[in-house]
Amino acid sequence: MTRQDLIAALWHGRDPFADPPADLRAADLQGWRSIHPYLAEAVTDLRPRVVVEIGTWKGASALFLARTMAEHDVAGSVIAVDTWLGAVDHWADAALFAELATEHGYPSLYRTFLANVVREGMTDRIVPLPLDSVNAAELLHLRGVTADVIHLDAGHEEASVAADLRAWWPVLRPGGLLIADDYDRLGGRFPGVTRAVDAFCAEAGVQGPWSLRGKCKFVKPE
Ligand SMILES: C[S@@+](CC[C@H](N)C(=O)[O-])C[C@H]1O[C@@H](n2cnc3c(N)ncnc32)[C@H](O)[C@@H]1O
Repeated sequence: MTRQDLIAALWHGRDPFADPPADLRAADLQGWRSIHPYLAEAVTDLRPRVVVEIGTWKGASALFLARTMAEHDVAGSVIAVDTWLGAVDHWADAALFAELATEHGYPSLYRTFLANVVREGMTDRIVPLPLDSVNAAELLHLRGVTADVIHLDAGHEEASVAADLRAWWPVLRPGGLLIADDYDRLGGRFPGVTRAVDAFCAEAGVQGPWSLRGKCKFVKPE
């Protein structure tokens, strides 16, 4: 599916980046492990047409995926799923809460993401989807959109990750790759991620997960 097909399927043909505001915010690519070998290898090894990222924040990892596609002539797009409202860890921490840039009681993080995508010249590679993870998975399913690669980096609590894996597994094509962030066999800051991923892999009978520097990955059997 091309980006145009995705816009038709998910946005009723209206390109969300068609008319960006003149008063764009400054570039701000703060993120977490947004540049990672698993993301680069997913692009160069699988040459995906459709990557879905669940949890995009300011766009640093989605832009890394998109840039890597452009550099390697991969004709693919990144669907960036996020409410742009933050997760519990952002609301609970004063410094991260400030990053949400609330205006009149509502986060304006999406505007930072938008500015980053426009400034990086990647509007033709990214399709934002401002829905919660489970609704977004349902919409893609309904529209017959499948993913070659999924990068899961949304809620980090065990229940969220378990629900996300269940919701997104049917969207991933057989042979597709799932990469999850904040996976740490030693527990780490979000031990629920590791518990949910390990339980899911055992239940789904997949090999792995393999892990490297805070991310893990596994392949959906053919
Ligand atoms: C850790 S940040 C993502 C970081 C990003 N991948 C990067 O590398 O910079 C997590 C993001 O997930 C989003 N999020 C959390 N739970 C979500 C849910 N259930 N549905 C959609 N987005 C969610 C938050 O709004 C936040 O922007």
